[in-house]
This record gives sequence, structure tokens and C-alpha cells, in this order.
Amino acid sequence: MLVVDDVTTAALALWVGVVRQAGGRRVSVALSGGSTPLEMFSRLGAPDMVRQWPWEQLVLFWGDERPVPPDHPDSNYGAARERWLDRVPLPARQIHPWPTELAPEAAARQYAATLTAAMGPEPVFDLVWLGVGPEGHTASLFPGSPALWTTALTAAPYVAAKDTVRLTLTPRVFNLSRRVVFLARGEDKREIVQRAFSEPDAELPVQAIQPAADPWWILDRAAAAGLPTFPVSESPHPR
Ligand code: 6PG
Repeated sequence: MLVVDDVTTAALALWVGVVRQAGGRRVSVALSGGSTPLEMFSRLGAPDMVRQWPWEQLVLFWGDERPVPPDHPDSNYGAARERWLDRVPLPARQIHPWPTELAPEAAARQYAATLTAAMGPEPVFDLVWLGVGPEGHTASLFPGSPALWTTALTAAPYVAAKDTVRLTLTPRVFNLSRRVVFLARGEDKREIVQRAFSEPDAELPVQAIQPAADPWWILDRAAAAGLPTFPVSESPHPR
């Protein structure tokens, strides 16, 4: 867990580390939706980044999507494309948005085929970005959703809280990943972050994400305010 002033800077530093560790090998990344990663997308689309990042190494997917076209304001792909992907030389063949032109169930089947074509029958992401909602959802895995228990790679669950179908990868995929990172920022995430860490039996969707390598959490101080704090001695060598 990292508690920082600026989650975006920390997230980008972690991403750079993952790319460097790959030593030139392709890095498959699942992006999250929502508002928290938007600043990261904007920073990645900035001119100084355009020249420095090894775009040819990145292969992008989305952990979830809304059943809307890319130019719809709710589109997670659209949000990344507008702020970042339209501004960098990342080849289109390395960008895999959900096929939202299809009906949701067909889109989920098609995306599962996309994952297995790109990464094999047990698709392993190098890096998965996830957020957390106030009731503990992550990606489009909401409390009580059947998508939490399916053995499929993808799902198109109806989400009563949003009165819409959503498209989402499932815990099976997320839990195959080499590195899962949750980003949470702001006072409105304090309670759910506290519950995620202090109520192991709460059956929160974020708690279904249990890859072999424990997920990282990058939090700002407001989101981490409900977590136990430990004194940090002033002197580097506590007496
Ligand atoms: C989505 C996201 C969703 C998001 C959380 C947190 O499609 O909405 O995938 O899981 O990560 O709802 O959203 P914020 O970052 O806006 O708080």
C-alpha cells in the first residue's frame, strides 16, 4: 500500500517500473474506467510523454465498459482515447476496446475471444488498474453480481444500482494477473477502503480480487484516513 499526496504521479511511476521490468517484452494492461484514472490518461497524452514512452511495448484492454459507443460521455474507452490514445503513436492493433457495437452478451463473448487470441486460454495481464466504488464495486463487479462467481473470462451483468447492463472482466481474469493496482483518492473512498481492509468477511467485490501477488493500493491521505496509522519515528534509528 502506498499513501501519497498525488496518486497519479505514484501510479505513473509504478507503470514505468512495470514497463522497465518487462525488458522490451510486450506489456499487457487492463485500464479501469471512472474518474480517478482520467488525470493519468491526460498525463500520458502530454507532449513530453509522447516522446519518452515505449508505446510499441503496450497492449491495452479495458477491465470494464459501458454498453455505449466510444463517442458517448460514459465510454471508458472514449475517455482514454480523448485524453491520451489520440495523442500518442500507439498502433491501433495494440488497443482493444470492448466491441460495444454488439449486444452486451455478444460483446462479452467477443471480448473473451479477443483476450484468448492475444494472451492464450488463461489470459495473464502484466498490469491491471482498478478503482473502487463506494459500495465496494470494482470494474463492473457490483455486490451480489453473478459475474463475481462465473468461471467465464467476461460477463455482461445487469447492474440494478445503475439500471443498466455493464461489460466486465471477471475475478477469474483479474486473479490471473501479474500485478493488480487499485487507485483510490478522496474522502468519499475513506469508508470503503477502511471496510475493504478491516472487514475480511464483508464479501465486497474488491475482496474477490485476490491474484497470486497481493494487489497494490495507491491511496491519497483522504482515502487512507480510516486505516490504522503507525508512528514514524523522527530519527531513522528508533531508540
Ligand atoms: C467504471 C469503473 C469503476 C470505477 C469505480 C471508481 O467503469 O465506472 O471501472 O469500477 O473504477 O466506480 O470510480 P471513480 O474513479 O470515478 O471513483
